Amino acid sequence: MSDEKALQDRTKQHSRVQSWRVWLAGLVLAGTYLALKLNNDQYAICSRSQAIYTVDDATPRAECILVKGSYIQDVGSLYQVRTRRLPPFLSSLDARLPSSWTARLWSWITLNVTYIKSTSILIPGLADAHAHTLEYGYKMELQLDGSGSIQEVVDRIKQYIVSHPDIHKNTSAWIEGMGWDQTKWPGAQFPTASDLASDSMLNGRPIALRRVDGHATWVSPRVLKLMGDLPDTVDGGLIVRDQDGKPTGVFVDNAMALIPIPAWSEEQMSMYFDTAMRDALAHGLTSIHDAMATPNIIDFIKRKAESGDLPIRMYLMGYVASDDYWGAQVPRLVDYGRDARLNVRSIKLVADGALGSWGAAMLEPYLDNPNTKGFMLHSSAVLTKLVKAFHDDGFQVNVHCIGDLANKEVLDIFERLIVDGQANTTTWRPRIEHAQIMTEADLQRIGRLGVIASVQPTHATSDMWYAEKRLGPKRIQGAYAFQTLLRSSPNRVLPLGSDFPVEGINPLLGFYAAITRLSPEGTSPHGDGGWFPDERLTRAQALKGMTLDAAYAAFAEHERGSLVPGKKADFVVLDRDVMEVDVVEVLGTRVEATVVDGKVVYGRL
Ligand SMILES: *[C@@H]1O[C@H](CO)[C@@H](O)[C@H](O)[C@H]1NC(C)=O
Ligand SMILES: *[C@@H]1O[C@H](CO)[C@@H](O)[C@H](O)[C@H]1NC(C)=O
Ligand SMILES: *[C@@H]1O[C@H](CO)[C@@H](O)[C@H](O)[C@H]1NC(C)=O
Ligand SMILES: [Zn+2]
Repeated sequence: MSDEKALQDRTKQHSRVQSWRVWLAGLVLAGTYLALKLNNDQYAICSRSQAIYTVDDATPRAECILVKGSYIQDVGSLYQVRTRRLPPFLSSLDARLPSSWTARLWSWITLNVTYIKSTSILIPGLADAHAHTLEYGYKMELQLDGSGSIQEVVDRIKQYIVSHPDIHKNTSAWIEGMGWDQTKWPGAQFPTASDLASDSMLNGRPIALRRVDGHATWVSPRVLKLMGDLPDTVDGGLIVRDQDGKPTGVFVDNAMALIPIPAWSEEQMSMYFDTAMRDALAHGLTSIHDAMATPNIIDFIKRKAESGDLPIRMYLMGYVASDDYWGAQVPRLVDYGRDARLNVRSIKLVADGALGSWGAAMLEPYLDNPNTKGFMLHSSAVLTKLVKAFHDDGFQVNVHCIGDLANKEVLDIFERLIVDGQANTTTWRPRIEHAQIMTEADLQRIGRLGVIASVQPTHATSDMWYAEKRLGPKRIQGAYAFQTLLRSSPNRVLPLGSDFPVEGINPLLGFYAAITRLSPEGTSPHGDGGWFPDERLTRAQALKGMTLDAAYAAFAEHERGSLVPGKKADFVVLDRDVMEVDVVEVLGTRVEATVVDGKVVYGRL
């Protein structure tokens, strides 16, 4: 009897102990879960080879970054980022314990640590300081890049028609494409309208094809007919004519406005936007400066921002083609939208055309076309009035200048405002977009004034095959002079962009062009050492141009562009170390993850 009782007691005691154990285990699990839950907006991402390139001089490379919410909370070794985030009672305890086991325990419970691959690197999110977002999506519909002849353009249009039944059926439907470049064709002459009627499938259709640089449009006979009577001349533009004075079908710069292309519908804009966002994120872009945002585009992107559908930061330069002040048509938006990713505080003016269509305004005639010096798109008086009005109204003013005359005239205007003390470059941050061909004096002056040169390295490597022939041996010295511009800049700022869709959207194309001045095939008119190799940028300079300098040019250097505590957690993981690998490997780089505001928006960590 007593034995039985003792056994019962023991069993009871045992099960009490058991249940305590279950309770304890449950508590630990719940505690762990809670700790994880409370910290689930925090994670560390690390590289065992310290291949986190911060673009911060104080700590150029790091082992880990600690992300909290949409911000970088800490940068350092794994030990540092773990201990620095401890609650005070644990860190004081930790300081007294030699093995710092409390920190390890706490971190083990609460910190989510991910390592990138040993061959991968992590860099700040890449910015494109000059691009055309919706135009990129537009161009992807019918791409004419790389076409080697007029016949190839015709063939691509036929393919496009065949694969679009609604257009195939409807001979009144507009066909639009972009990317042709006559400098790549036999003869290097502008094409004509009749070239677009040579094939029965094309004949009678309204066709409008933009040149690769967007500065000329080639139309079909049907479009010429729709246009009816044309003016003799167009200010800041050119109607290309044959010997009898008849329009041939190519319209340059301001003359392109004569072409009655229907405005983009909402569906078209959505389609173009989606294409651009998808490809931008897939290539590691986390920020785009859109260099020609017309009011309808601003309105479209503003609505995207409001509904939280802007996966990338966008910095829009408002644009209206007018000689009259149009500042009232551009809303002022600062960190706008559900995710605070949209900024509109700058405007774009276009001073001249482009080199490829002899539209860049030059001080002296073109060597290969001595009848012309190109042309300014606005009179000097109009430009002066607009720059001052936009400045006084609080807009950053970004002016497209390709030719040495355009650069000179615009620097003259900036200089007058700055020297008079009316404008302060530090707070105004005026930009020259392209800054492509400049006199030696102006290469120095742009720096002296602190005007930002916003340049596109791939333009140098696309144009290098004909630029010298067009400009001659003297002027070419001041063309695409990136290293000179960087040295000239008082705060060493040289934002880099691609001008996509004029060039490819992949920012590494620009990185490669900047550091090699070679074509993707490794060639240049000066051999495999690069075209004017003194003007190459170092890899560190190029990376900074695509991150921190671009942020500066958008008034955002305190918020992004480098990996330092307090900045936005925008970063990219690349599958190879573009800061070290042989240059031939750079263009094969793949993006493993793109992160905006601490969240993976492409790939995976
Ligand atoms: C840890 O971080 C990775 C990468 O950000 C994420 O995929 C994973 O879900 C996180 N795990 C937890 C438990 O939060
Ligand atoms: C053909 O295209 C034109 C121009 O886009 C359009 O106005 C017209 O309605 C289309 N016709 C048909 C039958 O879809
Ligand atoms: C321009 O503005 C900055 C920042 O407000 C200021 O530090 C600087 O002194 C100003 N420069 C001139 C010339 O007024
Ligand atoms: Zn552009």
